[in-house]
Amino acid sequence: MLVSRYSTRKWPVLDHAVRWGRSQCLLWLPYVLFFVPVTLRFFVLVVLEAVYNLYLFFFTLPQSLQPIISEGYSEGDAIVTGGTSGIGKEIARALILAGYHVHLPVRDMAKGRKVAEELGVKAVTLYQCNLSSIPEVLAFIAAFKSTHKQLELLVNGLESHMAIHVLGTFLLTTGLASILHGGRVVNVSSSVYYIVSHFDLRAFCDRSQFSRQGGYSNAKYAQTLLSMQLALDLREHDITVNCVHPGMVNTDIIRSDTLGKVVLRGIVNTIAPFIMLTPKQGALTPVWAALSSECDNVTGRFFSDLQEEPLSGKIFHDLEHGYGKALFVHCENLVKKASNR
Ligand SMILES: NC(=O)c1ccc[n+]([C@@H]2O[C@H](COP(=O)([O-])OP(=O)(O)OC[C@H]3O[C@@H](n4cnc5c(N)ncnc54)[C@H](OP(=O)(O)O)[C@@H]3O)[C@@H](O)[C@H]2O)c1
Repeated sequence: MLVSRYSTRKWPVLDHAVRWGRSQCLLWLPYVLFFVPVTLRFFVLVVLEAVYNLYLFFFTLPQSLQPIISEGYSEGDAIVTGGTSGIGKEIARALILAGYHVHLPVRDMAKGRKVAEELGVKAVTLYQCNLSSIPEVLAFIAAFKSTHKQLELLVNGLESHMAIHVLGTFLLTTGLASILHGGRVVNVSSSVYYIVSHFDLRAFCDRSQFSRQGGYSNAKYAQTLLSMQLALDLREHDITVNCVHPGMVNTDIIRSDTLGKVVLRGIVNTIAPFIMLTPKQGALTPVWAALSSECDNVTGRFFSDLQEEPLSGKIFHDLEHGYGKALFVHCENLVKKASNR
């Protein structure tokens, strides 16, 4: 009784122990052992990134995309996913300035039309496509290939919280590989993949096993691992595949309207302009990877702040031990299953 009253005020965990019994309290253990270190590492990374962003903002990043755009002029075709907002929209804008015709698969056509008007309707073709639906992505690939014999550039700037979005990257890259000869694939990943110390393919495919940011960092790890596997596989087809970290960018990345997310969005929106890059600045490295002659024939790399960032040792380890190939085969099987339905 004494313990219960004392703990209610000061020690909620102990209070749970009293109410649930000791065995139930052990349910906290996985949280303490797994999620707390992951959450802490995530926040340390965010703080370090914010400080680094200030340094980039004032000392390093060029203030304009213009030199990169002039260098990579082409009248070819580029597909940009995630082109209706944030970094993807700025990538699309820069590619149009560089002479490209930009193809945007979008899930919301009304939003797509607004963006096309903003970027210039003549330079944009819109396709209705929810990239989390395998049949819709396959239909988009078929429609694109029926009208185009060559694609110069594929930039995956899609928001990527779930395994299915990794699948989107897989589907588009493999599905378009036959017309991408001599072309580039740029996947917008995130340095957050560094915090993943244990990647379990089966758990990754089960969303319920991860917290949101755990899911995010795992999705980014999977996207990076898959990109490096694709880089190896597509080398003989003269297609380069690279990943980029855009920086910590002030976009509409917190979407949900749950109370917690609304509060978090409020906090982020207040401090974001002071510590985060603008979407235009976030587009610098992806556009550089897509257009710069410095990236000619360069494949299987990770770029950040207009330069190469060494891949984590874990990625090399997983590639060597066949986990990249296993992820590739897993994606392939999911597509086969969906196609046979
Ligand atoms: N912002 C950052 O600080 C940051 C840092 C590191 C990496 N990144 C990465 O950069 C990429 C772009 O992020 P962002 O910040 O620019 O995000 P964003 O502003 O939220 O844009 C995400 C884009 O993805 C599109 N999208 C999402 N689900 C889709 C679906 N099922 N079908 C079709 N389109 C879909 C959205 O379309 P709607 O407009 O229809 O919603 C939107 O155009 C992401 O891969 C993100 O992980 C961002």
